[in-house]
Amino acid sequence: MCGIIGCVGHGTETTDVLLDGLSTLDYRGYDSAGVALSNGTVDVVKRSGAIEDLVSAVEASPPTGPVGIGHTRWSTHGPPTDENAHPHVDCPGEVAVVHNGIIENYEALRERLRAAGHTFESDTDTEVIPHLIESERDDGADPETAVRRAVERLEGSFAVAAVLADSDAIFAARRDSPLVLGIDDGGDRRRYYLASDVPAFREYTDRVVYLDDGEFARLTPEDWTVTTLAGDRVEKPVDTVEWDPEETGKAGYDHFMAKEINEQPRALRQCLSERVDELDGEVSIGDLAYLNPRGVQLVAAGTSYHAALYGAQLFRAAGVPATAYLAHEYATGTPPIGDELVIGVTQSGETADTLSALREASARGARTLAVTNVVGSTAARECDDAFYIKAGPEIGVAATKTFASQLAALNTLTIGMVPSKDDREAIAALRDLPADVQQVLDESNAAAVAEQYLDSEAYFFIGRGLQYPVALEGALKMKEITYKHAEGFAAGELKHGPLALVTSETPVFAIVTGDGERAQKTIGNVKEVEARDAPVVAVTDGASDVSRYADHVLSIPESSPQTAAVLANVQLQLAAYHTAAKLGRPIDKPRNLAKSVTVE
Ligand code: G6P
Repeated sequence: MCGIIGCVGHGTETTDVLLDGLSTLDYRGYDSAGVALSNGTVDVVKRSGAIEDLVSAVEASPPTGPVGIGHTRWSTHGPPTDENAHPHVDCPGEVAVVHNGIIENYEALRERLRAAGHTFESDTDTEVIPHLIESERDDGADPETAVRRAVERLEGSFAVAAVLADSDAIFAARRDSPLVLGIDDGGDRRRYYLASDVPAFREYTDRVVYLDDGEFARLTPEDWTVTTLAGDRVEKPVDTVEWDPEETGKAGYDHFMAKEINEQPRALRQCLSERVDELDGEVSIGDLAYLNPRGVQLVAAGTSYHAALYGAQLFRAAGVPATAYLAHEYATGTPPIGDELVIGVTQSGETADTLSALREASARGARTLAVTNVVGSTAARECDDAFYIKAGPEIGVAATKTFASQLAALNTLTIGMVPSKDDREAIAALRDLPADVQQVLDESNAAAVAEQYLDSEAYFFIGRGLQYPVALEGALKMKEITYKHAEGFAAGELKHGPLALVTSETPVFAIVTGDGERAQKTIGNVKEVEARDAPVVAVTDGASDVSRYADHVLSIPESSPQTAAVLANVQLQLAAYHTAAKLGRPIDKPRNLAKSVTVE
């Protein structure tokens, strides 16, 4: 999704800071980028295409100034052209604005502005904002008042930042779209940053201020202030980010995705430490007071929805009625909430669909809990409680380590909320999980298996019970990064339709763990696809004899049914990754996708 960076300070490096910030934000997904610097005039450079194209344009005619904003755009209103790229300016080019989100009343505003003589250059909703500011200036407002009044007229969601030719400030405001300030005023240098996401400025400072909805910030080379839109001062805490800037680098891997897949043992250790006691086998979920909830609803999107499906099964197995909902379908299909707990599973904490479902749940009286990776994210702040998965920053658009950590966190939560004497085996498996994942990473033959099926038409994934969400996730990963058709099915559903698609050109990845009734039934499904000449890749812990019917085996260590899902998923992540790598796909930034989808 779109990204914002801003910087004010003394010195001449503003342009470099902006371009570096945009490069760091590119993982969010974008199709054009631009910067604006203010120094008595406003200089704007923007280009469709890659950030490298913007860098070349900047080098050809460098804008300078101590105050600047930059943006990566992911098209919503109008195609990715130079004109539609942000920043957008007013008629004389004295106000520049970047914006994430959607202005719902932009058509009405644009008509009114056009009637008043303003001319528009782009198809975007954003362009009304600089013209609104211009019109307030024409009516005599000072820069800050003009931006406030313009923002007050916007309906919809926004994170907005503006610079003006005759001001040394960045003005910014948010509603339903994240914005965070970076504070760097130690030592002899004083610089303030603004971004949609901390990694954009993390190399310069670890001190951050998260803006809340309806807040307005002013950053100058001398100080920063946060007020309400109405102008009342808000005292904001300055938080410290706990991860290092190196964690957002590739650390020698070809892709962030490879790095993040390999970071899973560490991510899981972080998630489980202080929660799963290695010695006495106890689980602690801190001060979350949710013992034996009457019912649980989980809301999520994308990969997080697969984690939610898994979490719902855990709760049901523990005797708590639980359902997972696609967040965007939540409002229309849910039963009334009594005193159920509603859990939002969202690695970013910013997914608009999930936030909207959580707000709906709150409005209907539910207690809400965010299971998220991002401290200070909107979900974390708006929910009654947050349970952090502690995976560290994830840059690859296709979620990997955050999924593993979500599964581990949901295990911990279930055991912590619904303690049972039967938990010991599950706790022991959780404790061993980081080492087991490391073993899969060290021994996986997924690259060789991927090599065999590069020309396949489609890939199918089947699993039962806790392995069903893993089948869905395996297929999602494969389609996202290889651009090949891939579908996940509940193994039992195969013969009710999807079997018609199965041919010798369609490898079937079958997840079979343990040797119980479920495993045996899935082996029955494996035989069905084998009879249609489909190649079979079994992902198995070796407890059953599924390998007898498989063309290839991706092995995982024996563990519990719950942790087997995490281990099987690692093999499927690797299969998708190596397929995409061999096909030469842009793995970290798949076409049309964004890391964090902040529009509904
Ligand atoms: C986007 C990403 C997915 C992610 C989904 C939900 O679609 O591309 O990888 O699973 O959003 O994101 P969340 O931050 O809520 O987990």
